[in-house]
Amino acid sequence: EKRGGPVVNTQQLVGDDLKDLKNNIRNLLGTGHPMLDTVSKYYFQADGKHIRPLIILLIAQATSLAPKKVAVSVKDSYEEIDMPISEHSNFYIPTLNNNRSEPSTSTNSTTATAGAVNPIYTPRIYAPDQTLILPSQRRLGEIVEMIHTASLLHDDVIDMADKRRNLLSANESFGNKMAVLGGDFLLARASIALARLRNHEVTELISTVIANLVEGEFMQLRNGQVENGRNRNGSMTTFEYYMEKTYMKTASLISKSCRSSAVLGGATEEVCDIAYTYGKNIGLAFQLVDDMLDFTVSSDEFGKPAGADLKLGLATAPVLFAWEEYPELGKLIKRNFDQEGDVELAWGLVLKSQGLAQTRKLAQSHCQKAISALSQLPDSQAKTALIQLTEKVLDRKK
Ligand code: FPP
Ligand code: MG
Ligand code: MG
Repeated sequence: EKRGGPVVNTQQLVGDDLKDLKNNIRNLLGTGHPMLDTVSKYYFQADGKHIRPLIILLIAQATSLAPKKVAVSVKDSYEEIDMPISEHSNFYIPTLNNNRSEPSTSTNSTTATAGAVNPIYTPRIYAPDQTLILPSQRRLGEIVEMIHTASLLHDDVIDMADKRRNLLSANESFGNKMAVLGGDFLLARASIALARLRNHEVTELISTVIANLVEGEFMQLRNGQVENGRNRNGSMTTFEYYMEKTYMKTASLISKSCRSSAVLGGATEEVCDIAYTYGKNIGLAFQLVDDMLDFTVSSDEFGKPAGADLKLGLATAPVLFAWEEYPELGKLIKRNFDQEGDVELAWGLVLKSQGLAQTRKLAQSHCQKAISALSQLPDSQAKTALIQLTEKVLDRKK
């Protein structure tokens, strides 16, 4: 027994849905241009953690038993979302066959024509507590994974990363131009799928996420511009600025997609807020742990460059905490670790300090907030899985 009841096998709960995810995304991505096809699908060949879709699916289940504002029928939920992407998108490449460049091997493929019922988009009811995931919520998971992957394609160009998910990064494999355009293409196809959900509130939430990702990245570009522990414009402490940036680059996506999942299920405002609060706090914890792992694991374990943040001039939570113990870090942070020996000096001080332990503690406190938010939901296996997930986020090594 663990906190929140007996251990739940998350794989058993939503494993089938996650298995379909990659195939469904591939089907949303086909294009007649073979190189664009390759680049935009490239990161999906690796085993991503799919943590965002996982959370979305579990929130769908956990909120399905909670009070509803509107009754959403399964028919509402699948009627339009899986029509083929219209001929408009193929106008300039008239030979394209329904935007799919290769036959799908999956028996569950989304090759439906308008009006046909596709087995993947029938609802699944989950024993033993009769929780439900709607087709629209499953599609939301796919959309969000596409947006996340688009941001990684762009991020690896910005960070000049040579590795992602233990693959050569897309920018290394195809060059910056194709990597950027591949990301743009993912965003475009995600936008079409989003429009197909025919839910204005969700469209607005997810579009805001895309803006927030860019805002977070911009905040990070000027991360080192600090003066006496405050950001240069003086409105926030350096730490507050870091947390705001962390919300923008990571937690906004998770929190707003949790809310969207609840919205698609017809949940009450109160339940949507619970979903949002859970997503925000597990999202903040996730990025805090990521910033900690940058100091503690090797690139091989991480599957992407480790020890990268200082080299990129970034002062993350472990450094900002260490700064309280070692004031001499201040001037290094201010100049973005750009002088000979800065990175090594800062690295040593961070490891000597309580910075990593304090970062973990802060992540833990956000996990606690995420768990508290869930307490007002009716009990279900999915709710228990969401609670367990907070521990996995804290203990992860990659
Ligand atoms: C990974 O962070 C990157 C992000 C969380 C977001 C990046 C966002 C952009 C590049 C803006 C453009 C957005 C879109 C939607 C195209 P990281 O570099 O700290 O982590 P890493 O170690 O995984 O690279
Ligand atoms: Mg990066
Ligand atoms: Mg980055």
